[in-house]
Amino acid sequence: MTVVVSNRGPVRFEEDPGGTFRARPGAGGLASSLGPLLCSGAAGPDGAWVAAALSDGDRAAVRAGAVDVPGIRLRLLDLDAQTYRLAYDVVSNGTLWFLHHGLFDLVRRPRFDRRWREAWTGYEAVNRAFADAASDLAGDGAVVLVQDLHLALVPGLLREQRPDLRLAFFTHTSFCGPNSIRVLPTDAATALCTSMAAAPCGFHAARWARAYEASAREVLGAGAPLAPTFVAPLGPDPEALAALVDADTTRAAAAELDELVGDRALLLRVDRIEPSKNVVRGFLAYDLLLEERPHWRERVVFVARLNASRESLAEYQAYRLEVEQAAARVNDRWATPDWRPVVLDTRDDFPRTVAALGRYDALLVNPIKDGLNLVAKEGPILNRRDGVLCLSRDAGAWDELGSAALEVHPFDLEQAAGALDAALAMPADERATRATRLRELAGRRTPRDWYEDQLRHAA
Ligand code: F6P
Repeated sequence: MTVVVSNRGPVRFEEDPGGTFRARPGAGGLASSLGPLLCSGAAGPDGAWVAAALSDGDRAAVRAGAVDVPGIRLRLLDLDAQTYRLAYDVVSNGTLWFLHHGLFDLVRRPRFDRRWREAWTGYEAVNRAFADAASDLAGDGAVVLVQDLHLALVPGLLREQRPDLRLAFFTHTSFCGPNSIRVLPTDAATALCTSMAAAPCGFHAARWARAYEASAREVLGAGAPLAPTFVAPLGPDPEALAALVDADTTRAAAAELDELVGDRALLLRVDRIEPSKNVVRGFLAYDLLLEERPHWRERVVFVARLNASRESLAEYQAYRLEVEQAAARVNDRWATPDWRPVVLDTRDDFPRTVAALGRYDALLVNPIKDGLNLVAKEGPILNRRDGVLCLSRDAGAWDELGSAALEVHPFDLEQAAGALDAALAMPADERATRATRLRELAGRRTPRDWYEDQLRHAA
């Protein structure tokens, strides 16, 4: 049997006025990839999934005993709200996320003070609650697959509590290097690395695995025993995508998009509103393209499908404003009576995303750093126009797709504008060759491959 342990679960619950609970698909790449697979019974007859109750609907479902999904025993943890908030906002997102994506402005942040210490205590408590629940659900010798930076202390806790279990810990983000890990308080860095060293650790790309190994040796000492690392990139579920393409909602969204774009080229991006996604520099590069290559004016529409994310964090609220302002600046500067250069679309609507991915001429994926970036794979699989992928070399997916994509340097605006120009101007035969190759590369791995790699490496 297998137990999956992750912050977000495969579904979120909504209570309807009659008091019954409906399970809706969970948000985020992990839940949407692994959810359908495990809810079809892939974790075995006693398979279980431990996740946090995140919404009011989730908590109400837990309290009503209505947490029920097909194919897997789901346990949602109804954690103390303040403890969870400190662990998620301050440690997982405000500290570890920033550390691993190189987002700290070190002159000012981070500051490890009394409030942070309280949050670290919360992070420890949340990790203990997950480890206890996993230990409770896991039968003798079960495999436990622990996911992501929210739960980096769980492998160590489980190893102590349950030496019989086979464990793997999968990190979905990039991993900081040996210099950056020293930013963390020494005891926190030691606790995280000690815990991760207790289980085989998986990453989406080899460079994150190397960065983790170097960080762990820096913190724990050159000779410290580290369980092996493995590289197992996630891939989209082609059947789930194909089903969405045929949905009425997607067709309606595609017709709307046709109307909006007309015979202009469609430049697209699809992201959470997230500092590591580098959305603002994407608009600056587009602005430069329009400034320096005037023949593109009125000939391109840049649709940015951006979903709200982590809005309880001040950094994310501020970044959202910067994103909106950057888009507005481009429109103020270049719009004409019948052309809006940037269309910012923040509706949370996956069929619209699927329609846009099917329709783009160029897809911009320019993160500062990204563990993988699933959109970079979903795009080429869904696209029907031989669209060109402009991909940051610092996305994990670059390692798999780089040979057929156009490279984007996340900080070099001139270079990025040049890549957009090259993508939009690319001759049809080269577009077709690259698109065929990209589709093949992006479709090589499915969620099942990724899941089975973890099972194989668990020890
Ligand atoms: O990529 C890492 C990750 O934590 C995913 O597991 C998750 O889907 C995504 O970031 C979004 O994060 P959050 O769950 O905080 O919205």
